Amino acid sequence: MLLGVNIDHVATLRQARYATMLDSFNAEPSVLEAAYAAQRGGADSITLHVRGDRRHMQDADALLIREKVQLPLNLEMGNTPEMVNFALKLKPDYVCMVPEKREEITTEGGLDAVFYEKELAPSIEKMTAAGIKVSLFIDPEIVQVEAAARLKAPMIELHTGCYANHEGELRAKELERLRMAAERAVELGIQVNAGHGINFQNLAQLVEGIPFLYELNIGHTLISHAIFVGLEQSVRDMKCAMSELTKA
Ligand code: PXP
Repeated sequence: MLLGVNIDHVATLRQARYATMLDSFNAEPSVLEAAYAAQRGGADSITLHVRGDRRHMQDADALLIREKVQLPLNLEMGNTPEMVNFALKLKPDYVCMVPEKREEITTEGGLDAVFYEKELAPSIEKMTAAGIKVSLFIDPEIVQVEAAARLKAPMIELHTGCYANHEGELRAKELERLRMAAERAVELGIQVNAGHGINFQNLAQLVEGIPFLYELNIGHTLISHAIFVGLEQSVRDMKCAMSELTKA
């Protein structure tokens, strides 16, 4: 199982002080250094979200990481003509299409691929034709998985936020929904990734409950842990936890 490291929070911290003076020689922390640290810690890919409002990652961050870092790059983006054009310019290895609301702190809820099927189709076609592998960040619902299949998305990222934010019976129910959605995706030949709210505490139950996971995209917990151990070690700790769980 692979680990995609989301480094958006590094840009969030930089923006907290330097949003209006990004060219300052003092601007820190460096997102490029974060990507390198993640790579040294064993990350399998780097994820970043360039939002319509550019609240954390900037176009220049994505372009710099694309140029300098050898790991596969996963661009999270909303389905707008501006972002599709940016993806065609950046040429990341993967794009994960996410819903975007201005007022949210982080991505809340999956993309409604059923409702937005018509709007998503041309964007996915364009990016696929440019050699980008497109994923859809969706809630664990069979109808959403089937819409992803109709849209010919080769992979999906199942939204694990609801699983992560509940305990006990509600968590068990959500895990079952995730397992069923993953199973349907595998039947349809779709690669299954997962992300949102995954941390060192809830990882085991997730991995044991869903046997089809290909890649986990994790951000917040890695940056939180990094405050105490450094980002390289934080990523190494997560990789280690993941490989312990997937040992035969
Ligand atoms: N996957 C997607 C699509 C996301 O939007 C996010 C949050 O930016 C993540 C994964 C990572 O979530 P977290 O920061 O909770 O690990």
